[in-house]
Amino acid sequence: MVKIAVLVSGNGSNLQAIIDAIESKELELSIGCVIADNAKAYGLQRAQWAGIPTYVVKRGADLSEKLEPLVEGLDYIVLAGFLSILSAQFCEKWKNKIMNLHPSLLPKYGGKGMYGMFVHQAVLENNEKYSGATVHWVTEGIDKGAIILQKSCEISGAETPESLAEKVHKIEHKILIEALKGL
Ligand code: GRF
Repeated sequence: MVKIAVLVSGNGSNLQAIIDAIESKELELSIGCVIADNAKAYGLQRAQWAGIPTYVVKRGADLSEKLEPLVEGLDYIVLAGFLSILSAQFCEKWKNKIMNLHPSLLPKYGGKGMYGMFVHQAVLENNEKYSGATVHWVTEGIDKGAIILQKSCEISGAETPESLAEKVHKIEHKILIEALKGL
């Protein structure tokens, strides 16, 4: 069975979607470990409740190096709201084995500084008619790797960054599971 590591920085609702899909047998894979880049990530708590081993690897230049022994032997790495940047060397070694989730219709609104609410604010400032979420392979260039799955939603006249974030999150939970089914 395919075994993945899930990397988180915060709430971990996408991690929860994976855990739930495994428990309901919608998804046939297992999570070998959950790794956070800060000890306060709520995703760690979610993993512990599900009985999944957790690790914290502090943010910093040596983060990728420290990840190496923790992910060894696993098949894929899933970045589910993970804000640290992985080294070029690490991305090359794990080519087509690291999936990332991004809260926009890439290639729009990707790259450095485009994360979380910054994305939704920028989308609304530009009066976009649509936004959405993307699952893509991770390469050295931030949010630049090949797209695996993408789904859009309409932006309403009364949209706020918060309401858009909620819509996009719901899409993320779905497309992440769909993408994982393809592994
Ligand atoms: C998601 O919007 C994801 O696209 C982004 O960070 C957010 C994480 O949400 N990279 P959660 O921690 O899974 O709830």
